[in-house]
Amino acid sequence: MTRSTESLAENPTPMTGAARLLRACLRQPVDRTPVWLLRQAGRYMAEYQAVRRHHSLLEICKQPALAAEVTITAAEKLDVDAAIIFADLLLPLECMGLAFEFQAGEGPIIHAPIRTPEAVDALRTSGASELGYVAEAIARVAAHFRDRLGIIGFCGAPFTLASYMIEGSGSRNYVHTKTFMYRQPAAWRALLEKLATVLRDFARQQVEAGADVLQVFDSWAGALSPQDYREFVLPVTKSLIREVQSFGVPVIYFGVDTATLLPAMRETGADVLGLDWRTPLGKAWRELDYACAIQGNLDPITLFAEPELIRSRVRSILDDAAGHPGHIFNLGHGIVPDTPVENVQAIVKFVREYAREKAAEKRA
Ligand code: CP3
Repeated sequence: MTRSTESLAENPTPMTGAARLLRACLRQPVDRTPVWLLRQAGRYMAEYQAVRRHHSLLEICKQPALAAEVTITAAEKLDVDAAIIFADLLLPLECMGLAFEFQAGEGPIIHAPIRTPEAVDALRTSGASELGYVAEAIARVAAHFRDRLGIIGFCGAPFTLASYMIEGSGSRNYVHTKTFMYRQPAAWRALLEKLATVLRDFARQQVEAGADVLQVFDSWAGALSPQDYREFVLPVTKSLIREVQSFGVPVIYFGVDTATLLPAMRETGADVLGLDWRTPLGKAWRELDYACAIQGNLDPITLFAEPELIRSRVRSILDDAAGHPGHIFNLGHGIVPDTPVENVQAIVKFVREYAREKAAEKRA
């Protein structure tokens, strides 16, 4: 037992949410596992639906008072340890010169997807200041919570954003993205570099405004083989993550369906890797030699089950983490519409109960 674990066991003064999150990111001992949830502010929540009735998704993102309200309401209602700023992954596309919209129930549509090297040349990289509304929303959330909760800023990773730019929407097989990557490797690299330039500036603004941690979403990296990930994606992603860390915050790097990519994702140097639910947490973490912190990984669809089953799955994940320092409890992907809100709240309760039980076992 290290000196700090000892003093925590003897003196269980509760930590603030911000301290709990930050310490877990750095694999330092905590009083209990921190918990927050992907897409914790969203359509499953009546309070969000009420705001959405009067405003589009992009209006909420672009009005700092609204974005802050939605962020704060969700975090308080769920009683989580961290608030992720309400924004969207695709916002930086606009300041690079690519227009997009969200069509009802369909996800994002980019009107003129990138298909040629000339289209990459035409992208702007100097417009990150146009995204200042996100930093302004973070400043409001930070002023509200102070240290009570950790504040998480975020951006997309170069690959995942490039895939939207090239496909023009979500995709099943990434045919256009991979064709561009294989056949136009120089333009592919130029595209990812341009994205990284904008994302770095965007991340810096968020840190300066008060983000404690930055999450980089590489949601669709799991579409790549490890070899293609290493060759076409890892170098630029690693540089971006290193730069964000140089602003003074830990980075959580998240992707879906990444079981075989984890060793390569680890090479980015991210402080925390976020797992989806297909990858058993204990096994994945062991195979990473506990060399980084780990976030996850309850299947979000478990939230449609009875509370007893949800409780048992939460326990399995916490048992799997086995008290190693550096676990952040989360879902394996975002909460979906129609999820019962009381089950979302129950997860947070179950994570806390588990910590109390373990503490009682230790005393007994
Ligand atoms: O609470 C939070 O987690 C913060 C808010 C947040 C949103 N988008 C708001 C949103 C976050 C972190 C994102 C990230 C995001 N956006 C990702 C990466 C995370 C992931 O899910 O892997 C991606 C791929 C996007 C792009 C995007 N935005 C898609 C594909 C969609 C449509 C899918 C859907 O759920 O309908 C969106 C829309 C979106 N972004 C919604 C929310 C709450 C729902 C739409 C609405 O309110 O009308």
